[in-house]
Amino acid sequence: MLGNFSYKNATKLYFGDDSLKYLNDELPKYGKNVQLIYGGGSIKKNGIYDEIVKILKDNGKNIIEDAGVMPNPTIEKLRDGIKIARDNKTDLLLAVGGGSCCDYAKAVSVSVNCDEDPWDKYYIRFEEPTCDILPVGCILTMAGTGSEMNAGAVITNHEQKLKIGHVFGEEVMPRFSILNPRFTFSLPKRQMVAGIYDIFNHICEQYFSGEDDNTSDYIAEALMKSLIHSSLIAVEDPENYEARSNIMWTATWALNTLISRGKSTDWMVHMIGQAVGAYTDATHGMTLSAVSLPYYRYVMPYGLKKFKRFAEEVWNISSNGLSDEQVANEGLKAMENWMKKIGVAMNISELGATEDMIDGITEGTLILEGGYKVLTKDEIRQILKKSL
Ligand code: NZQ
Ligand code: ZN
Repeated sequence: MLGNFSYKNATKLYFGDDSLKYLNDELPKYGKNVQLIYGGGSIKKNGIYDEIVKILKDNGKNIIEDAGVMPNPTIEKLRDGIKIARDNKTDLLLAVGGGSCCDYAKAVSVSVNCDEDPWDKYYIRFEEPTCDILPVGCILTMAGTGSEMNAGAVITNHEQKLKIGHVFGEEVMPRFSILNPRFTFSLPKRQMVAGIYDIFNHICEQYFSGEDDNTSDYIAEALMKSLIHSSLIAVEDPENYEARSNIMWTATWALNTLISRGKSTDWMVHMIGQAVGAYTDATHGMTLSAVSLPYYRYVMPYGLKKFKRFAEEVWNISSNGLSDEQVANEGLKAMENWMKKIGVAMNISELGATEDMIDGITEGTLILEGGYKVLTKDEIRQILKKSL
């Protein structure tokens, strides 16, 4: 049975290789001061920065530079961004980059008009914003997180060794996002495949839960099949527009709240992966790939029916003469082969994690209860040891 739910997605999308021109339609809706948020400089190298600055100037905007958003944005950087927005009376936060820039922009947006420290309020106490929220727009240069059409914002606190995501309400979703698949062509291969695995895992996190006959699961299977197909083309031919555009669109649908409607969700690979990220600062998608197989092999017996369906529907495993468990295992083997083929991290040692970090990573893992097995800390420790 499909559970009861409400659904609204507040973000307007412009998709395609001419989509940047629609920034001209959006800018007049906002005030003069635009805080231009970007990362370590990839947009300067590939020319996207110049194109955007020209459009902002043509529209008479004041450009407030906010560069240097790092992958896995930190609480210190967030506090800097809040100060920049306050000092310059920012009217629009325009993020240009991947999930890190989009997440950071959303975290700034809920904090500028709020007196309390954002870490304590949003990431420790998980409170909702009680102040005016600044509008956010995103121009995406990396497909993966789905941040362009959701209200999530993940922030890392290195001092406390915690990486935590807050999923805000629909009022925090970007007002608009511009998705040009060509902007992703300049991504290094390692970032591209990390993004692809992130997308895949977002779908898994919402698929591996519940036993009901649920439309969301059929949509999830279709998204996984499209992603697997396109990923194999993109690793061979990174400038294949068809593959890159399908990957970009799949990323958005994988985490814009649609496929979680009416069902429970897991998210434990993300919880463990984020804790690994807090210790290693490794690329988000790689922290997920490195812990996935030990996790799924461990919980598989508790959700056998769904793991069998995953094998048959997503990986075309034939059940002829095999037990349910064998079919499910074949599915995970096929997933492992695909992961190796596209080249994602297969263990946390290659991300810099060491045995002496395991207890701390275990402690830093939030336990959620929507999956097939509610893990104990000891089970998380075992999964992490298997991931080394
Ligand atoms: O900083 P620059 O120089 O721009 O380089 C970036 C960065 O080093 C580079 N890059 C991006 N687009 C490029 C490019 N390089 C060349 N050409 C381009 N077109 O890629 C690197 C990674 O970028 P980043 O934004 O960090 O990657 P991603 O999109 O994977 O975002 C990761 C962050 O999002 C969070 C993660 O935890 C992590 O902090 N997530 C956000 C979610 C959400 N809002 O719902 C959900 C996710 O599960 C995830 O947790
Ligand atoms: Zn993710």
